Amino acid sequence: RKGKTPEEVVKRYLQKVRNPPEEDCTICMEALAGPSGYKGPGVGGISRAESVGRLAQCGHQYHLQCLVAMYNNGNKDGSLQCPTCKTIYGVKTGNQPPGKMEYHVIPHSLPGHPDCKTIRIIYNIPPGIQGPEHPSPGKPFTARGFPRHCYLPDSEKGRKVLRLLLVAWDRRLIFSVGTSSTTGESDTVIWNEVHHKTEFGSNLTGHGYPDPGHLDNVLEELKAQGITEEECLPRD
Ligand code: APR
Ligand code: ZN
Repeated sequence: RKGKTPEEVVKRYLQKVRNPPEEDCTICMEALAGPSGYKGPGVGGISRAESVGRLAQCGHQYHLQCLVAMYNNGNKDGSLQCPTCKTIYGVKTGNQPPGKMEYHVIPHSLPGHPDCKTIRIIYNIPPGIQGPEHPSPGKPFTARGFPRHCYLPDSEKGRKVLRLLLVAWDRRLIFSVGTSSTTGESDTVIWNEVHHKTEFGSNLTGHGYPDPGHLDNVLEELKAQGITEEECLPRD
């Protein structure tokens, strides 16, 4: 993807639309048949004939300029996510800062999982300086409550979740930098869209066990990030 302009990246996932439907573009809320309401920098040079595109897999249509503007607003990793149905094109990555993910099995059972041991995941991210992919590039970010310890049952499904979390970590999707909804602090490391259980024997925060739906919820959340067992081939 080196050398690909945002417009080239976006076009890779689009089919041509000769006659735009009489609908609005849901990115800019202007008619698809008219010009894009979004005129950001660096989106010029798009001819009228290619001003609307259809995302190849889900079929949703947008102004090309609107998709390019949306892409430029993200972390420009070569992937695109349909803003309507969340279908992912390419491999989605996040802006998780550098750090470490470790795990091991501990010989205790979680509430609700009496028949197996427990996987403990330890995430450690130090504070640092925000990169261009973060909300305030060049400004420091804090990192509270690390190392953060998380727990999964050491069952077949728990181990599957762990495998997918390792992929999510590599794709920088477990944490992000932003404003904590718990503390209100900005420019800090926060959980991204994948829930973790951070309490072991109790459930005082709501982020503990028992929670019979937890593993299935996490699998759904991982899927929304483009991470499923099918593409999760054995690691070397
Ligand atoms: N454990 C697990 N998940 C949590 C926790 C927690 N203690 N608190 C919040 N979350 C979930 C929220 O439900 C939400 O979905 O993380 C998501 C983002 O919430 P924020 O409050 O923005 O995230 P963050 O600031 O990272 O978390 C707050 O979690 O692990 C602790 O030490 C951490 O005290 C901090 C707390
Ligand atoms: Zn538009």
